[in-house]
Amino acid sequence: MSIDPQDIETHSHESRWFEPSPEFVAKARVRSAEEYEKLYRESLDSPETFWKRETGDLVFRSPWKELVEWKLPHARWFEGATLNASESCLDRHLSTDRKDAPALIWESEPGETRRMTYGELHQKVVELAAALRGLGVKKGDRVAIYMGMVPEVVVAMLAAARIGAPHTVVFGGFAAESLRDRINDCAAKVVLTQDGAYRRGGVVPLKATVDRAVEATPSVEKVVVFRRLGQSVLPIEMKEGRDLDWDALVKQADPEAGAPESVDAEHPLFILYTSGSTGKPKGVLHTTAGYLVGAHVSTKYVFDLRDSDVYWCTADVGWVTGHSYLVYGPLSNGATCLMYEGAPNHPDWGRFWQIIEKHKVTILYTAPTAIRAFIRQGTDWPKKSDLSSLRLLGSVGEPINPEAWVWYHTNIGQGRCPVVDTWWQTETGSILLTTLPGAHKMRPGSTGLPFFGVVPEIVNKAGEPVGREKGGLLILRRPWPSILRTVWGDDERFRKQYFSEIQGAYFTGDGARQDKDGYFHVVGRIDDVLNVSGHRIGTAEIESALVSHPSVAEAAAVGRPDELKGQALVVFVTLKPNNEPNEAMKKALTEHVAQEIGKFARPDAVRFAESLPKTRSGKIMRRLLKDVAAGRESTGDTSTLEDYSVIARLREED
Ligand code: PRX
Repeated sequence: MSIDPQDIETHSHESRWFEPSPEFVAKARVRSAEEYEKLYRESLDSPETFWKRETGDLVFRSPWKELVEWKLPHARWFEGATLNASESCLDRHLSTDRKDAPALIWESEPGETRRMTYGELHQKVVELAAALRGLGVKKGDRVAIYMGMVPEVVVAMLAAARIGAPHTVVFGGFAAESLRDRINDCAAKVVLTQDGAYRRGGVVPLKATVDRAVEATPSVEKVVVFRRLGQSVLPIEMKEGRDLDWDALVKQADPEAGAPESVDAEHPLFILYTSGSTGKPKGVLHTTAGYLVGAHVSTKYVFDLRDSDVYWCTADVGWVTGHSYLVYGPLSNGATCLMYEGAPNHPDWGRFWQIIEKHKVTILYTAPTAIRAFIRQGTDWPKKSDLSSLRLLGSVGEPINPEAWVWYHTNIGQGRCPVVDTWWQTETGSILLTTLPGAHKMRPGSTGLPFFGVVPEIVNKAGEPVGREKGGLLILRRPWPSILRTVWGDDERFRKQYFSEIQGAYFTGDGARQDKDGYFHVVGRIDDVLNVSGHRIGTAEIESALVSHPSVAEAAAVGRPDELKGQALVVFVTLKPNNEPNEAMKKALTEHVAQEIGKFARPDAVRFAESLPKTRSGKIMRRLLKDVAAGRESTGDTSTLEDYSVIARLREED
């Protein structure tokens, strides 16, 4: 642990309450704190009754025999059930009016719109599923997806799910090396990609990155390429025998071969890589029934979805939010989802608000880092558009500061829309802490209360509850349906990472406190994981990228508080002899990290040091470097520091 839980602020400075409007409450699914409390109690005291009722609209081909089996650290849910996730998201709507209702409304960065009904999306998924089967992809084989924000990425995920092939979506901002490592870790058989995507007026060459990655991925047999841009915009090379054109492949496929595979509840649905406190990303494994139930039920209650809603989750499909709240949660609920290809500031900072006006978006789910960026640009931008269609706002990914919350509520929600601040993680699969929009009053900066079936607690290092208004470690006492099942290929790491810190409980890695009213405030990571603009970055990953540069002897990465990004990434580097610590070197190292991991992980500042502060046993003292990076005095214990002059020298260079 790099932060002592005692350092977590114990005081809640925010005491304001905001109430949902009576109009919102009148139409909400859960209308009062008492109603929530009743359901919450039922979810803990009579879980069988609760989950049976709440999953009644999902398609289980056979019912479960045992709700949950909890043999620490492994949870199994809905044992005995068989199902198919794509059937629950698509086929089940075909016998209803939703068949002809839009599942996806796609807005491209240049401004085109595509609409796809549930019937059409189903058709495309069936065709691609058949095509994948034709390529020899079998139940259990892994399929890697490296695409941008186009409807076909949803088709890709659901087609893989349809044939029981776990998918691993790799965010399109990752560099070839990161993509290669992820493909190799799960030994994917096929890669689904696209020629390129539009981003900030430019073109992201996705296929070219795949070409570099698959030079060293022995498991990959085929690369299927969706033509988003076309050869005239972005010429790509197709390697004979390996690369296949998506459209041509789908045309040849026999749709009869696209029937859904029946899988067991615990069959792997997807692997999603995320950063931890070591250099190697973890392949978080989610399984079919539990994950789907978590995403489905939370979407229904937290976003209070209706068929008339146009729901927009701005997250990229490469992150867990895109999985749970752009694909599985909303589609299993039959929602109409807006999907946007590009950047929030293209061609200008009014783009989000224009999209809301154009498509009459009713629910917006976005990240604090975007909200802070909008705040900087001023209220004139949102004022230019008609935002009256909005009825609910959401926030996810990092703590939202009360000022940003109030700005969002006032300027985007126009005081009319409740804001749900949702806390969860790649590992939790679905939202675990939140308010319910029609049931609860809201406190800016607080994520609220536990979702159904969730038992959070704030404890000290010994696992003892700390009580209200005290900082501590956020843990979960009971398993919930969408808890990760393991780390792909490394069950020991799974056990160690999540279940060794506090006996008998899942440790989130987050520090938090509960205020006097019982509302949870999640403060941030207490391990060596950073949250930069809502992207989760392991400091060890950055450090191993840096030391792979021939000039670098040693490196340490830390976070510095940043108004816009939440945290900024600062790296301290010791160079090998005969290397000059100059501007050119800073640039070279920054580019090197972008090359190794991806542009989003570029350090915000590179600082050279003759040596790094270490304990007598040789461990880098990141806590001290954090203080140096933030320009503040160190108050903690420095008695284990081996050489006091190191810190003094670093400060002088400030
Ligand atoms: O530190 C918490 C922060 O993001 C971490 C999870 O990151 P990731 O797995 O990338 O998933 C992001 C999307 C769910 C958490 O451990 N975090 C997420 N949501 C919040 C948050 N911190 C405070 N408030 C939130 N609402």
